[in-house]
Amino acid sequence: MSSVAHKPLLATVLGQRQERPPMWIMRQAGRYLPEYRETRGKAGGFLELCYNPDFAVEVTLQPLRRFDLDAAILFSDILVIPDALGQSVRFAAGEGPILEPLDPKGVEALEKGGALTHLAPVLEAVRRLRAALPPEKTLIGFCGAPWTVATYMLGGRGSSDQWVARKFALEHPEAFDKLMDILVETSIDYLAAQFEAGADVVQLFESWALNLDDTSFARNVMEPNRRIVEGLRKRIPNAPVIGFPRGAAGNIMRYTEATGVNAVGIDFATPLDFVRNTLPKTLPVQGNLDPLRLVVGGDAMESQVHRILEAFSDRPHIFNLGHGIVPETPIAHVERLIELVKRS
Ligand code: CP3
Repeated sequence: MSSVAHKPLLATVLGQRQERPPMWIMRQAGRYLPEYRETRGKAGGFLELCYNPDFAVEVTLQPLRRFDLDAAILFSDILVIPDALGQSVRFAAGEGPILEPLDPKGVEALEKGGALTHLAPVLEAVRRLRAALPPEKTLIGFCGAPWTVATYMLGGRGSSDQWVARKFALEHPEAFDKLMDILVETSIDYLAAQFEAGADVVQLFESWALNLDDTSFARNVMEPNRRIVEGLRKRIPNAPVIGFPRGAAGNIMRYTEATGVNAVGIDFATPLDFVRNTLPKTLPVQGNLDPLRLVVGGDAMESQVHRILEAFSDRPHIFNLGHGIVPETPIAHVERLIELVKRS
């Protein structure tokens, strides 16, 4: 791993605290950037953007041309997996993703075999990114964790309480387990292929790790994430993984121990002193500025940035938001944020 020394963000994931925290921004390529909106317009649809390596590479690199960030994150979406499994997925402007919800028969009908072929253009984008990026930049690959992806596959769209998916898991345990198996296996293949194409680290986006009792948290979140990490490392020894169990609250430590992720993403609702008092000093953490503070800027942003830097100063820390950047974010505020973190 001789390249590690040149990549501060990867080194931090691997447990080496840096003099100042490296940083990236969740959803750093996106609608707050005019150049993204322009490329998105040329691509036509959102999935067309994801499956065209020229466009995907272009939008991945756009934030790095503007900002002094330590990582590029592959431009894609967590919902390319259901699409690759043959489920109908579309992105309607202003509405977010819309899928044809699965019933137990629909789970049986998923087409596992061709998923990686379908995702070949995404892997081609990873190869080109590896070649295009300077050696000190970490290339982050990702997929959605199975439960989060399943909430969209079963509910058909985003929802604040994941009611449909939670009900399905309890009412149709066999079909649910089958769906988790398919997502675990496909995710392992997909992430292993991302590493082979040149990713340095991957992030598991478990964006809906909330609203689950402890039994369901273990079954829906911990066990599938654990199986992915284990299966991935059989193929890619020591594969570096960041887990982001958003909303996991008191379950963060259990999640981290059970899954074996190298680093854990902390959402913005998690108290800083909870992290300090509960998570071991050796565990790399990523986060956790509220994206709304970046929208508002000024003291609302700056005071909290200082609190976060201070709270995590004695452990490996990757500075990030506690969830994705939103389209309303002024670019000047992003510039200021980076200046604050880089000057710390
Ligand atoms: O971080 C990056 O820059 C990489 C690209 C990326 C996107 N989505 C691009 C995107 C990543 C890592 C994601 C992850 C993702 N996608 C998650 C997990 C992270 C999270 O925010 O919780 C989830 C739940 C999704 C599913 C998804 N995709 C939703 C709910 C939406 C609609 C809401 C929204 O923000 O528009 C998308 C669309 C999407 N994915 C956009 C982008 C840039 C906007 C689509 C557009 O350009 O019209």
